[in-house]
Amino acid sequence: MQKKVYWIEGDGIGAEVWKAARPVIDAAVAKEYGVEHSLVWEELLAGEKAQRETGSPLPELTLEKLRTAELAMKGPLGTPVGSGMRSLNVALRQTLDLYACIRPIQYFEGLETPVKHPEKINMVIFRENTEDVYAGIEYAAQTPEAQKIISMLRDSFGVNLSDAAAIGIKPMTEHGSKRLVRRALRFAIAQKFPSLTLVHKGNIMKYTEGAFRQWGYDVAQQEFSDLTCTEKDMLPGRLVVKDRIADAMFQEALLHPASYHVIATPNLNGDYLSDALAAQVGGLGLAPGVNMSDELAFFEATHGTAPTIAGQDKANPGSLILCGALMLDHLGWHPAAERIRKAMQKAIADKSVTVDLAGQMAGARTVGCTAFGDIIGAAL
Ligand code: NAI
Repeated sequence: MQKKVYWIEGDGIGAEVWKAARPVIDAAVAKEYGVEHSLVWEELLAGEKAQRETGSPLPELTLEKLRTAELAMKGPLGTPVGSGMRSLNVALRQTLDLYACIRPIQYFEGLETPVKHPEKINMVIFRENTEDVYAGIEYAAQTPEAQKIISMLRDSFGVNLSDAAAIGIKPMTEHGSKRLVRRALRFAIAQKFPSLTLVHKGNIMKYTEGAFRQWGYDVAQQEFSDLTCTEKDMLPGRLVVKDRIADAMFQEALLHPASYHVIATPNLNGDYLSDALAAQVGGLGLAPGVNMSDELAFFEATHGTAPTIAGQDKANPGSLILCGALMLDHLGWHPAAERIRKAMQKAIADKSVTVDLAGQMAGARTVGCTAFGDIIGAAL
């Protein structure tokens, strides 16, 4: 079977991590399946490369191909803070309705991490990807748009807001929340995880985050009542659906990580929690993820463009390589995916790793991005 994968190089460290990662992914498939299965890669332009070559950071041709695609994978795309263009990542997620961002957090033995027992962490985050304050509906302070909204809130709803306020809108819907939680529930049940936790800030943001929590429990009760239970009525053999307030969840992830398995959460909480949990198991260099619609699985390294190390052959290609493993799992090519994870485990155990990991490992040898890819490839 041949599978077409669209790929986007990305900015910053994108080019170098791709050069190291793609041969590993292809070699894993070839070693496992010979000529029986293969991936056919086609590049699409986005980001700085697209700007240079087409004059647009997100060309229509890229979107057109992705609209009918089944598989895609991307390196990081840069976004300026506070000004300039809107995030291309957010634009891609919204345009393609990639509503579920799924990030497994897995520890590789031998890594030294900031916590004492990283091996207790085995979680998968399902982050809603299209709504929340991340929807990008924002108006700068002192603009006519912000002034108009402030006047409307004051005149129609009696809200006392400073005229000088910048405005951001936090839309969250029953449909958007339920489809994310539904997907997380299906996954948790299929993979036989013991629990799913709805992480929200519903004590303060009652009608958005609080509603997310309620819609989450509703979908479990309405559609999975014979397979789930709550913490109050623990039933053996069933998936326990529970909820935690987001700030408490950060503490729980550090103090009692083994009590948490699948996490379903709105956009912003999920963004914060993904990086924090990635750090607990060794950092962003080994954190893969996938953004999914009902049609497209768009794999993406969790890290950004790492501008301070770009072009120096220092970046860890592990995140993209593990994205490859996730993609092979998604295709049902599990033995090839497992080959990648075992090779990664072996490379880490041999202590020849990129600088982000070596800095945290006693006696480790620092190797470059290219060499790390080669070492993992050789261990396949
Ligand atoms: P970042 O993830 O690029 O860097 C954070 C820290 O982690 C830096 O110290 C960096 O050197 C290190 N790091 C990241 N990836 C690494 C790797 N593969 N190997 C070794 N070290 C690595 O986050 P930052 O600095 O906040 O963002 C830089 C740019 O990336 C921004 O424009 C941001 O918008 C963009 N970004 C894009 C993402 C995406 O395309 N999915 C995700 C996160 C940020």
